[in-house]
Amino acid sequence: MESISRTKIVDLLKREDFGAKVNVKGWVRTRRGSKQVSFIALNDGSTINNVQIVVDNEHYDEELLKVITTGSCVSINGTLVQSHGKGQAVEIHANGVEVYGSADATTYPLQKKGHSLEFLREIAHLRPRTNTFGAILRVRHHMAFAIHKFFNEKGFFYLHTPIVTASDCEGAGSMFQVTTLDVNNPARTEEGAIDYTQDFFGKSANLTVSGQLEGELGAMALGAIYTFGPTFRAENSNTPRHLAEFWMIEPEVAFNELKENMDLAEEFIKYLIQYALDNCIDDLNFLSEMYDKELIERLKFVIEYDFVRLPYTEGVKILEESGEKFEFPVYWGADLQSEHERYLVEKHFKKPVILTDYPKEIKAFYMKQNEDGKTVRAMDVLFPKIGEIIGGSQREEDFDKLSKRIEEMEIPMKDMWWYLDTRRFGSAPHSGFGLGFERLLLFVTGMSNIRDVIPFPRTPKNCEF
Ligand code: 4AD
Ligand code: MG
Repeated sequence: MESISRTKIVDLLKREDFGAKVNVKGWVRTRRGSKQVSFIALNDGSTINNVQIVVDNEHYDEELLKVITTGSCVSINGTLVQSHGKGQAVEIHANGVEVYGSADATTYPLQKKGHSLEFLREIAHLRPRTNTFGAILRVRHHMAFAIHKFFNEKGFFYLHTPIVTASDCEGAGSMFQVTTLDVNNPARTEEGAIDYTQDFFGKSANLTVSGQLEGELGAMALGAIYTFGPTFRAENSNTPRHLAEFWMIEPEVAFNELKENMDLAEEFIKYLIQYALDNCIDDLNFLSEMYDKELIERLKFVIEYDFVRLPYTEGVKILEESGEKFEFPVYWGADLQSEHERYLVEKHFKKPVILTDYPKEIKAFYMKQNEDGKTVRAMDVLFPKIGEIIGGSQREEDFDKLSKRIEEMEIPMKDMWWYLDTRRFGSAPHSGFGLGFERLLLFVTGMSNIRDVIPFPRTPKNCEF
């Protein structure tokens, strides 16, 4: 076959130089036709849209044509032709066909259309070949890019915080341990405890649950930083909103107080949604049509209106007076469940809500304590369909108050000396938050299970590949 340089389908579909000789390569979505002519719908992942290839059967070997079935991979030379077919501007009239890889029609798992998302989760190695996951993965890419673009435009520096760490940021104790000790026969101290001085790092180490603590070190030197990396939580929560491995974006800004922190969070999330509407509309329209008819409207709605900002205490009052039957009880001091969060957002305010000033007992040690002695300057951003999408706070910058809180919560002080040094030397007010990347993607794509917005989900009892 003549060598012609390849055009991606996304670019080809925009071309108008009819008559040009072109080459496309990709995976066959469908092939239909008659004895004389075949119509191949070809997709190469560059766009949700396929290009139609018209093949004059009589010019090709029957054996060759036989293996061009759904899922096979082909290279096509041909002429670019204006199409009269519905929904497509161009097509290719083939004059050269090469098959790279066949896909046996009797065993290829994606032979038929319309598989359930549950089934596709079981063949996560092949699901990127479906329209749905192609769309989701392209949106995921564009959102990651937009995150870096947003912070770069605002003069934030991307800080790479460690994945293996000796500290527990959220103090929740749900960490994955990292060790080179022999788990069947670990080194032991004279008292019989595991001797971590013999471990790789000379102490016990874990996968990080958050880059925040190290992020604060960066903010106290560079002024404004963000992290964007994988985080790991060994919580046994088998819900459509939890992963054991997820990605988090954590900006941290010196001199910002809670108000500026909320402003940043709102501006950030609106920027990302606008970016998706501007750059991913073909994929979003497809997802909307397939899974969530109100998706585009919901995205536009979030951009248009100011988020409600409300203290936790008032939020709880609204919930108590709502007359709504909740599965989990609601009272001052309760950690809000997603049913409570969604009631406030979807039923009461019908807008995203930023809830602030939570009871200190249900929040992490690092949050700035309010004058009332009961609450901390926390902020959770609550979204329709999702519940909590962002968690953050102003940080306690006072050395004495922070040390006292660390003691009260029985966090080993000796492990925190480096963190406390930021309060010992040149302390400053500062704030930050964490956006769960997959929660953002749930919102932007309209999908309802978090396992469907990450290429290789890790959840309890699930670690394929
Ligand atoms: O509220 P979280 O636990 O806050 C922190 O980790 C802070 N250190 C962030 C900061 O202030 N820098 O987590 C932040 C966000 C949540 O709002 C949620 O969107 C997401 O991370 N998240 C999860 N996403 C998927 N699976 C899980 N298991 C998640 N846990 C938290
Ligand atoms: Mg949280």
